[in-house]
Amino acid sequence: MSQKVRTFKLRVLRQDGPTRRDTRRWEEFEITWKPQMNVISALMEVRKHPVTTDGKETTPVVWESVCLEEVCGSCTMVINGRVRQSCTALIDTLLQSGETITLEPMTKFPLVRDLLVDRSRMFNDLKRVKAWVLLDGTHELGPGPRQSQETQEEAYPLSRCMTCGCCLEACPQVNDSSDFIGPAAINQVRLFNLHPSGKMHAAERIEALMGSDGVAGCGKAQNCVEVCPKEIPLVDSIAVVSRQATKHMLFRWLLK
Ligand code: SF4
Ligand code: SF4
Ligand code: FES
Repeated sequence: MSQKVRTFKLRVLRQDGPTRRDTRRWEEFEITWKPQMNVISALMEVRKHPVTTDGKETTPVVWESVCLEEVCGSCTMVINGRVRQSCTALIDTLLQSGETITLEPMTKFPLVRDLLVDRSRMFNDLKRVKAWVLLDGTHELGPGPRQSQETQEEAYPLSRCMTCGCCLEACPQVNDSSDFIGPAAINQVRLFNLHPSGKMHAAERIEALMGSDGVAGCGKAQNCVEVCPKEIPLVDSIAVVSRQATKHMLFRWLLK
């Protein structure tokens, strides 16, 4: 007796290139269910057989993924209306809310093709706020300053950011009519300003966030915290950096 093969549908929002808005369309694929599938393995099935449910041959769907274990952030997309990583989006869990899974690209980044977007703005923002510890030469500097256990505990959760873009996607202040830098870079300022050596350049990092596109641009809607897959306390980071910016402003005014 033959057993019925279980299938589900993948509905993908597609576009052939950054300037090909005319090609924007939904395509639906029927996928044979297998145990332990995630969204990436479902997309790989489409790649093997790019034919839609109405029998039309199409091109394989384009997406990005690297680590496959929620570390690199590259596979981020909007799945069933929620921004998240596709490598950890399990098909069985998604099917609990219906037999069709929808995939869309993030909307706050320039589209490259299909589900692939260009997250360069986030990396440029990390450069803008100097999200690193500056080294002055490569000579022996001796043992660095010690970091207290308390500071290490504050810093560790902040360091888990993988520049995935979920927080920018969810933030209402990140939109076409605003240049708001977004919570991820602000959180990195808090992290590097906590570091005993990083602290030496704290003022420069704060300066980079002083304009209306900096920390003052946050509307405190708190969507960012809700979508961050690494549970980074982004609203706390924004509050800490806002206080640093206020102090910096007063200091600058007193020096006038
Ligand atoms: S709290 Fe600020 S950064 Fe976070 S989503 Fe709201 S406006 Fe954006
Ligand atoms: S703060 Fe969280 S949501 Fe934002 S980029 Fe980093 S890991 Fe992603
Ligand atoms: S592939 Fe790296 S986070 Fe998903």
